[in-house]
Amino acid sequence: MTYQVATPGSADWAKAQDMVSRVPHWHHKFEIVPGLVTPGSYDPQFMLDKLQLPADMTGVRALDIGPSDGFFSMHMARRGAHVTAIDYRAKDAHGFGAMEALSGLTFEYMQMNLYDIDPSSLGEFDVVLFLGVLYHLPDMMRALDLISRLCRTRLFVETQYEPDLTPGVAVARYYEARTLAGDITNFWAPNRECLQAMLRDAGFRVDREDDWGARLLVDASVDVQQEQKKVRMAYGLMPKRG
Ligand SMILES: C[S@@+](CC[C@H](N)C(=O)[O-])C[C@H]1O[C@@H](n2cnc3c(N)ncnc32)[C@H](O)[C@@H]1O
Repeated sequence: MTYQVATPGSADWAKAQDMVSRVPHWHHKFEIVPGLVTPGSYDPQFMLDKLQLPADMTGVRALDIGPSDGFFSMHMARRGAHVTAIDYRAKDAHGFGAMEALSGLTFEYMQMNLYDIDPSSLGEFDVVLFLGVLYHLPDMMRALDLISRLCRTRLFVETQYEPDLTPGVAVARYYEARTLAGDITNFWAPNRECLQAMLRDAGFRVDREDDWGARLLVDASVDVQQEQKKVRMAYGLMPKRG
């Protein structure tokens, strides 16, 4: 059931509010239907603006890795994209399920660890969003290798990073236990050069960057000139040559 046309005061409106209130925790603060704003702690509208996604995404195949409550998935779907979202949490463990029901939009939601993605069955995507996930991963290169096999055009990576760590040298800082923001799901924060180098070795070209505080956004594209992806060889996934 969807509540796409819910208006304040209607029976559907009360159900919609109830659905929002039942979500155990909202990360994204956003308006799903006019007047219905989720009680998240993070308003991601500024990030959406920074991405500079096309206003018309009709027919675009988009992948949102780690969508959380689905703010970015929703906006891409509204612009006409076919959106697949992959997260290791169930869609009702965060707000994605409520967003889907309330918005009336449809998504392909896959509950899985990104390390379990099988690129040969998922196929390729025109746009991949990889926002706020890299630093949660124990093996950054493994993730970028998988993404390089799923992305045919454009990749957006947004991450915690180390702005002041040995500028000019590609390094990443490892965060033991809960030492990054008290969160045990955090592992690594690369510096700018490290993220750029990892992306190049995964077969991407960095086209645009933006940073604020300890966050870095990279707008990258598949580097069609690069014949050998170093990272792909390392994981033994290089296609055999005749
Ligand atoms: C900080 S939130 C980022 C949410 C959203 N992309 C954004 O930028 O606002 C990280 C998300 O990635 C998911 N996640 C973290 N590690 C994952 C993994 N290994 N596989 C799949 N999802 C993962 C979390 O469940 C969460 O939804």
